[in-house]
Amino acid sequence: MLGARPVLVGAVGPDFADYREWLERHGVDCAGVHTSDTAHTARFTCTTDDAQCQLASFYPGAMSEAATIRLAPLVGSHAVGLVLIGADDPDAMLAHTQEARDLGLPFAADPSQQLPRLDTDRCRMLVGGARYLFSNEYEWELLQRRTEWTARDVAARVELRVTTLGAKGALVVDGDSEVHVEAVPARDVVDPTGVGDAFRAGFLAGVDGGFGPERAAQLGSLVATLVLEVDGPQEWRVDPDRELARLAECYGADAAADLEPLLRGAGRATP
Ligand SMILES: Nc1ncnc2c1ncn2[C@@H]1O[C@H](COP(=O)(O)OP(=O)(O)OP(=O)(O)O)[C@@H](O)[C@H]1O
Ligand SMILES: [Mg+2]
Repeated sequence: MLGARPVLVGAVGPDFADYREWLERHGVDCAGVHTSDTAHTARFTCTTDDAQCQLASFYPGAMSEAATIRLAPLVGSHAVGLVLIGADDPDAMLAHTQEARDLGLPFAADPSQQLPRLDTDRCRMLVGGARYLFSNEYEWELLQRRTEWTARDVAARVELRVTTLGAKGALVVDGDSEVHVEAVPARDVVDPTGVGDAFRAGFLAGVDGGFGPERAAQLGSLVATLVLEVDGPQEWRVDPDRELARLAECYGADAAADLEPLLRGAGRATP
């Protein structure tokens, strides 16, 4: 949607065929997807009430085979600039983080929902040396407790910390300097599922497009709001004129002008 060319890595079941087709149609390369012979694709069921409180249940299924996937063959065949390690089977998260280090590839640590299941050593291994550390506010507190690192310790071990704060926006922390990026006001809050990932998608497309962290976080905030305004995490669309007006209103004319080529390109790529 934003012109980046992501390669998906993960383990799925034989029930993945329809979703693979949908992802490929939307420009996601599924070359790193392993299909299990015995288990179905992991499934997250989320129930949201009128106050946007959520109850989640999770079936891991084929996810437990993700640690068998190697990154090296993908790096040989694709131009990989960054490895994003999100919530997955914990052994897979550790293996992929270590392999990224061994291959000399920058990585982003995004342990999110798996934090409660990680002990101190494993948590430190996922975070230390990351180019980007992503989390929401609650996960950031938990991460400090789990790693037994202070904010200063973390700052010394990651290049950039990006902490999302829900409706309060996001914090981008680079060593001692801190930039707060406001959220883009939502016209209509329909469904919060996937806003965190939406922010990451916009942020990473921004840095991949050559923007600095603040502009990237502004784009991340816009995409998060687009997801918040529709039912479902992946049903959003870019309307370049409308989005540029919102960016100008929220972050100023310079931000909108900088991000215009990327958003107009995204508009054309929308199927
Ligand atoms: N009510 C809101 N209004 C506008 N923007 C919002 C709102 N809630 C979230 N966002 C945007 O989404 C980003 C991520 O939100 P949040 O910190 O709640 O992520 P999260 O808890 O990881 O979400 P997820 O439920 O996807 O895991 C925020 O930084 C902000 O840009
Ligand atoms: Mg999240």
